[in-house]
Amino acid sequence: MHQPPSDWTRRGFLKASAAAVAAGAVGQTGGEVLAQPPRPAPDQSARCDPPVVVASANGLKAIEKAMSMIRQKADPLDAVIAAVNIVEDDPTDHSVGLGGLPNEDGIVELDSCCMHGPTHKAGGVAALRNIRNPSKVARLVMQRTDHVLLVGEGALRFAKAHGLPEEQLLTDEAREIWLKWKESRSDTDDWLAPDLIDDGNVSQNRATGVEHTWGTINCCAVDAARNIAGVTTTSGLSFKIPGRVGDSPIIGAGLYVDNDVGAAGSTGRGEANLQNCASFLIVELMRGGMGPQQACLEVLKRIADKTEPRLRDKQGRPAFGLKFYAVAKDGRHAGASMWGPGKYAVHDGTEARLENGAYLYKRPDAKREAKDK
Ligand code: GLY
Repeated sequence: MHQPPSDWTRRGFLKASAAAVAAGAVGQTGGEVLAQPPRPAPDQSARCDPPVVVASANGLKAIEKAMSMIRQKADPLDAVIAAVNIVEDDPTDHSVGLGGLPNEDGIVELDSCCMHGPTHKAGGVAALRNIRNPSKVARLVMQRTDHVLLVGEGALRFAKAHGLPEEQLLTDEAREIWLKWKESRSDTDDWLAPDLIDDGNVSQNRATGVEHTWGTINCCAVDAARNIAGVTTTSGLSFKIPGRVGDSPIIGAGLYVDNDVGAAGSTGRGEANLQNCASFLIVELMRGGMGPQQACLEVLKRIADKTEPRLRDKQGRPAFGLKFYAVAKDGRHAGASMWGPGKYAVHDGTEARLENGAYLYKRPDAKREAKDK
């Protein structure tokens, strides 16, 4: 039997559902009453057995956890959140939670959102400091408030009110990476990298190779009863301007779930997703009949077409990374990236494995990349 997510008020959901059904015959817009087109009744007998869990490639271990919980009849939202908590708790993954790369001031700020297909409810937090599991706070926003998104200081106070402990999230390793970035930014500021102090070689100093990254984990699941849930969690763009919010806490950008259709999520340059409502669009294209891979590629093409000149390479292609992960209600799944080849993680009943994703452009080899510059 389908279990509600932890702390879920089933009574509240049933009350809300009954009210929605009662009001469902008509919709209103600007005082005008419109007849709603009839929706096909969901096929209650259809199943997705075995269930399917998909994630970004850094979620290989995480999807084992999600699958094992789903097999024990956990709600898919609880399963995907427990899954990404493993990565949030891992100090060696610098894209998320504890050990995530900080903003330009050296402070870790986390973004996350989650969405529960059966209730179509969602929650998110942005620019959250000092709490290692923003995905847990996102679920609390969904379950314990009338809101969808809390940010900054308010999000932190809310997390503390629910007993989540505050801690320093900047690990020594992440701090070293940040420091290297800071020291290599400019030869006119007062920050000196050790190599500059040693031999005064500015070009060597500037060639530290520390770049901005947009690491993230997204995880979506369909259980045997075809209920769908998803979560995205991240420390966002490394060395970002404090307060910068990416796509990961924004429903429709970094994640979208529709229990009648499927789910999609993303990692990579969040600004591109925010400008194109990418996850929502993937799910809508699947609703229109596209398979998950075709829908992901179609949205990548759309984003490539709309990319501003500043962000294109010499061949006019988007000069940034972006990946999508999608799963349809019947268990079909895909991963696709702007630049490939790339992998995504999937568990569809047999084992957790990395699969090849589709891609729009083939990543140039090192020689070609040097020529492009
Ligand atoms: N996709 C992660 C970010 O842009 O923050």
